[in-house]
Amino acid sequence: MNPVRALVRQAAIQRNVITRRAIHSSPAALSDALFVHRDTAENNPNIPFEFNADNKKRIEEILKKYPPQYKKAAIMPLLDLGQRQHGFTSISVMNEVARLLEVPPMRVYEVATFYTMFNREPVGKNFLQLCTTTPCQLGGCGSTKILDTIKEHLGINVGETTKDGLFTLVEVECAGACVNAPVMAINDDYYEDLTPETTKKLLDNIKAGKPIKAGPQTGRHTCEPAPGVYTTLNSEPYGPGFKVRSDL
Ligand code: FES
Repeated sequence: MNPVRALVRQAAIQRNVITRRAIHSSPAALSDALFVHRDTAENNPNIPFEFNADNKKRIEEILKKYPPQYKKAAIMPLLDLGQRQHGFTSISVMNEVARLLEVPPMRVYEVATFYTMFNREPVGKNFLQLCTTTPCQLGGCGSTKILDTIKEHLGINVGETTKDGLFTLVEVECAGACVNAPVMAINDDYYEDLTPETTKKLLDNIKAGKPIKAGPQTGRHTCEPAPGVYTTLNSEPYGPGFKVRSDL
């Protein structure tokens, strides 16, 4: 570009007459969670939090794993206990963990804001974490269809909770069970090989208080080949000593 045009363009950019061309044409994906804490009615440091008797015993056991001068290493297991007891990792939970482990509260905030498994805002009774990463999304797996099904069936968007407080939906990165894609975690369990139909059935059963079965929803056994056991795992496993010299 000739220097005069370059100067004119630069001046126009500064005056916001023309905008800079972005490198990406699609919107940047941003986290739906705030890194900072904002006081709210249900999450502020004035709400008292104390571990219950069972959890206090668990904490004693956890702390035995670490030398006393390194008990800050227990930040994550204690935050997890706090989240399970309180329903989410509130600022009061974090402060109590910091008090117990004798570390500055900031040390605990750093951990809780880094790891996405700590929910720093209230979530529904059933926390739906749908994997929408590539292996769950591509081909016949279709996590996009599952996402649309959940949104439509529950009437919520990603990051929202249903009015009855039963479900919160979030999208997550690879859940580590791609072989059974598409995959959704509901609280601590994985529900795999989902289709729009089985997803709706799962949600309906939860609503109705009926039991649901974790794992593949197609009936396949764990992560055996999806079309059936035709070419692999179809013979007796070799016994000990297979192909080992007989004199050994
Ligand atoms: S990509 Fe979904 S579980 Fe790995």
